[in-house]
Amino acid sequence: IDAKALRSSTGGVITLDPGYKNTGSCESAITFLDGEKGILRYRGYSIEELAEKADFLEVAYLLIFGELPTKDQNDKFHDDIKAQSLVDDDIRKIVDAFPKSAHPMGIISSLTSALTAFNPGSVNVDSEEDMYKSVVKIMGKLPVLVAWTLRKKQGLPLDYGDKNLGYVENVLKMMFKSPNEEYKQNQILVDALDKLLILHADHEQNCSTSTVRIVGSAHAGLFASLSAGISALWGPLHGGANQAVLEMLEAIKEDGGDTKKYMAKAKDKNDPFRLMGFGHRVYKNFDPRARIIKKAADEVLGDLGIEDPILDIAKGLEKEALEDQYFVDRKLYPNVDFYSGIIYRAMGIPTDMFTVMFALGRLPGWIAQWREMRLRKEPIGRPRQLYIGETERSFIPIYNR
Ligand code: ACO
Repeated sequence: IDAKALRSSTGGVITLDPGYKNTGSCESAITFLDGEKGILRYRGYSIEELAEKADFLEVAYLLIFGELPTKDQNDKFHDDIKAQSLVDDDIRKIVDAFPKSAHPMGIISSLTSALTAFNPGSVNVDSEEDMYKSVVKIMGKLPVLVAWTLRKKQGLPLDYGDKNLGYVENVLKMMFKSPNEEYKQNQILVDALDKLLILHADHEQNCSTSTVRIVGSAHAGLFASLSAGISALWGPLHGGANQAVLEMLEAIKEDGGDTKKYMAKAKDKNDPFRLMGFGHRVYKNFDPRARIIKKAADEVLGDLGIEDPILDIAKGLEKEALEDQYFVDRKLYPNVDFYSGIIYRAMGIPTDMFTVMFALGRLPGWIAQWREMRLRKEPIGRPRQLYIGETERSFIPIYNR
């Protein structure tokens, strides 16, 4: 590489790091992650303790505002969010206008962006108070949009849920309430979803979070920044992996359940197939979230009495991968998405909604990261490049080409 080409026009040296494997983009006080030791902490609290003792809304408050809420702060946060759960009726019309075949992540990303158009004032976040208004607005409205997206796909009438329920209970009710029957809450599912949302709530500077921060760094509004993050999360190498895992497990089942055949495919460098739900950019020993969620998956399936051949295939793959030299050498362990899809499936959530559930969980993390970036008055994100194209050439008119 030509050393001169690595110098920027301002004279500094440019670091070339495709995929930003070793490049820090910011200082952050939100999430601590040690990939070698398998440690994940939100604001200093271990993910294990939070998943066991806190609920999702407390964790959301902790991530966004830096401290666990007092009872009064928690109640106020909940009430303020609930007060924002109404969605403009014209947005309902947009939901109706999407084709049934539309992927829910495309719908959610568009609707989140549309919220800026319906709430132009939300772009003004100069004071903490204005910021708070935008925060509770999106925390109130996203679950409604998620539930509507599912109900629209299932041909059910759109529903606003019940203001007296907790945040996660309400999400489940809005998604699954049948128009003709009284709705009965299943506490096992409420607890499992609460845990899943906590585990997904933040993961420092991953692809979607970096997207939210970089879009927000241009002072685009919170909702536009979140919409960009949702689009990033959609990708199968990121949040879309939970959908891809289930599709892979189903394909293996359809193909006779021969896990060894798929292990061989994953190792074959001439085959683009990868074992979805295995490997992680930063966890090179184990993903601590995967341990918690594996236990939760076993509990949910046990409690609900679900026998699922897909789970047997998953367990088979996990066992083989842990004993396989290729996977051991590359430190490829099951990640959080390997198990989350299994729980979502047990809950009756359709496969193409899995990544939307991930987005719902990641929402407070994205908000916290965006808020931190704005409060720290970070400069606009603008990476440099190493130009490797043509040197200067003369234009040739079209009739001479
Ligand atoms: N199956 C088979 N081989 C794999 C897998 C896999 N799932 N993941 C990585 N490898 C191999 C690569 O082929 C490479 O092998 P090589 O050294 O012989 O060339 C080596 O392991 C390192 O892989 P990289 O792609 O360089 O690792 P990177 O850190 O860039 O990628 C990623 C991490 C994207 C998660 C990758 O492991 C992957 O594609 N996994 C499957 C998708 C997935 O589960 N994504 C969810 C991530 S978690 C999340 O977003 C919440």
